[in-house]
Amino acid sequence: MKLFTKLTLTAALVGSSLVSLAASADNDKQIYKRVDALMKKMTLIEKIGQLQQLSSREGVITGPEGEKVNTEDFIRRGWCGSMLGVKTAKDVAYYQEIALKESRLGIPILFGYDIIHGCRIIFPENLGMSSSWDLAAIEKSAQIAARETASIGIAWTFSPMCDISTEPRWGRVSEGSGEDPYLGAKIAAAMVRGYQGKDLGDPNTILACVKHFAAYGAPQAGRDYHTVDMSRRMFRDRYLPPYRAAIKAGAATVMTSFNDFEGIPATGNKWLMRDLLRDELGFTGFIVTDWAATDEMRAHGVAANRKEAAKLAFDAHVNMNMVDRDYIRYGEELVKEGTISEKTINLLCREILAMKFRLGLFDEPHRYGGDRYKSETYLTENLAIARDVARKSMVLLENKNEVLPLKGTERIALIGPYADNRKEMSGAWPGLVEHNRSTTFREGLETRFGKENIAYAEGCKPFEAIEGGIAEAVRVAEDADVVLLTMGLPNSCSGEATSLTSIEVPQAQRELLKALDNTGKPIVVLLVTGRPMDVGFEVEHADALLVTWHAGTMAGPALADVVSGDFNPSGRLTMTFPVNIGQVPIHYNMKRTGRPMLDPNSKAKYLSRYLFTPNEPRYPFGYGLSYTTFDYSDLKVLTPEVKMGESVKVSVKVRNSGKRDGAEVVQLYLRDDVASTTRPVRELKGFERVELRSGKERTIEFEITPEDMSFWTINEEFAQEPGTFHVWIGHDSNASLEGAFSVNR
Ligand code: NOJ
Repeated sequence: MKLFTKLTLTAALVGSSLVSLAASADNDKQIYKRVDALMKKMTLIEKIGQLQQLSSREGVITGPEGEKVNTEDFIRRGWCGSMLGVKTAKDVAYYQEIALKESRLGIPILFGYDIIHGCRIIFPENLGMSSSWDLAAIEKSAQIAARETASIGIAWTFSPMCDISTEPRWGRVSEGSGEDPYLGAKIAAAMVRGYQGKDLGDPNTILACVKHFAAYGAPQAGRDYHTVDMSRRMFRDRYLPPYRAAIKAGAATVMTSFNDFEGIPATGNKWLMRDLLRDELGFTGFIVTDWAATDEMRAHGVAANRKEAAKLAFDAHVNMNMVDRDYIRYGEELVKEGTISEKTINLLCREILAMKFRLGLFDEPHRYGGDRYKSETYLTENLAIARDVARKSMVLLENKNEVLPLKGTERIALIGPYADNRKEMSGAWPGLVEHNRSTTFREGLETRFGKENIAYAEGCKPFEAIEGGIAEAVRVAEDADVVLLTMGLPNSCSGEATSLTSIEVPQAQRELLKALDNTGKPIVVLLVTGRPMDVGFEVEHADALLVTWHAGTMAGPALADVVSGDFNPSGRLTMTFPVNIGQVPIHYNMKRTGRPMLDPNSKAKYLSRYLFTPNEPRYPFGYGLSYTTFDYSDLKVLTPEVKMGESVKVSVKVRNSGKRDGAEVVQLYLRDDVASTTRPVRELKGFERVELRSGKERTIEFEITPEDMSFWTINEEFAQEPGTFHVWIGHDSNASLEGAFSVNR
């Protein structure tokens, strides 16, 4: 073991580079002056009213419906600080007018909505987008979403979801960026920058919301809302980084998670909400619960009644109740009897009002919305960006006999339940999409290859056969040169409350594939999914496998770009695809063990292994094929000996050795050889998406910073330790080109 001479990085990680929520400190001073002046006029219940978020009658309902509320009445009394789920600019204006004209103080409402991967223009589901490894494109997608959302009257989104997950049984992996904390952190920060821009006062930017704090991505057995139990060390090393990065990027709000953490539901968890989030991470915005999460502390069994639930959330300094009304019901009483102080209420209300001032809602309450959406949604240039993001997200997993790209002369049989379905392109949380504006795979292919060259058959529904469906599909296939078969899971199996215990493609679709395989035609499976799947059967019966995800509004043209070869696929998996569900949770950055199975062919018994299944997944993290090939050579550690606090420089040569131009995601992995606590076998610590023309070579240089080498040490601090490290650079998490360096005291 090393000597624990450490460089503590916590202070450097928070504080110093926190992006101010206001455009400038002076501006912020002014804002708090105005907030304080307003609060002087507010009664206790009016202040508590600002802590209340209501759902909208006509809008979307995204949780269990509780007792009905007379929304207008709540607004008139000043009991509604925020609303969620209001869908149109007209409805926004309706409620806002009541707040402005009919409540005593005329405080504007803050409208929020789940804009997760696009508003009107839908981008691929987030797990798909993360597979692009293109931070600039992801940031741009959030910026476009923000502009469209703001134009409809909504100034707050409940995104990014920063929950790391290694659980394909959990449907919400579709909303996140996969299993890796390093990549997850980069994406979380990019999305916050995209939504919020540089100035919250800009009417084209909106508030981001970091969710679900915390560790929501690790429910036991992959069942949504289930308990989460892990060590703080695991939490800090693997789950915290994306939340932390989003907060560091200046995220204005945070949402509590439904789960408990160390036996205490997040919404009442003082350690999470105060010690960690506020004190350690330096979060200065406001916290909203998830849907009815205060009230659900009764079901968790930590509150005997609503009043106790309210007290727990107040004590954790949670600012806003989403939908449940425990604060408004019991807040006054709790203050009057001295259980919580009015100071606490003031503190919670202050941050919400400050945010409304920053957004400019007090000065121009209708600046979001109005008619703006008519000229600011579905812009042609933004559709082009959505197309680019969608094609960059697609991941080619198999391509036997180079069946892809198509030559352009084939007659194509397009088959399957997702081939001609606009709605199914949107995935979970379809924002404020107009489905008729989405494109289908069929339309995209017809445009690219000519209508006369595409024959279509649905074949089956996602879970059921269609009478005569297989026979018709076989007929269509027999007349064609190649079959493109859409398979996978529908929108309804993606997102919240969609846990599964099987991640195989449903049987009805497999029957269809089997029958098509019997025709002897080459088959390309287009896998529509929001989660990793067990695709053993598909690989056996098909020639190529392209994961398209739920690709969004521009799914059709994006698919056509990829299968035609107009665009060379460059997507790389951000979640491991297991051999079967029994391997789950499986991820590349597993901890080292005392009996590792270093040789996959070993016959030794006493190793950490399965009897009849390999330890290796079907496709590892970082994996994805291209129509060209990339060779790696000359990994050089430019600084083989460094001191604590210094960065390490590593370079590698990458050559496009195939016949087509293409993009490669060059990935760098690190292992801390000996540390004070067990460390992962390897961890992603750098990547670069590089465009390379055929035959061209480039030297890529990486810098591994002290922060990259740090972890939660045995001394309970995020710090660097001296010692030796191994580094690998290559195509995916199995990269074999290797180097080493040491960090000296
Ligand atoms: C519940 C979900 O967990 C959360 O992600 C979402 O933002 C809220 N409902 C609001 O719809």
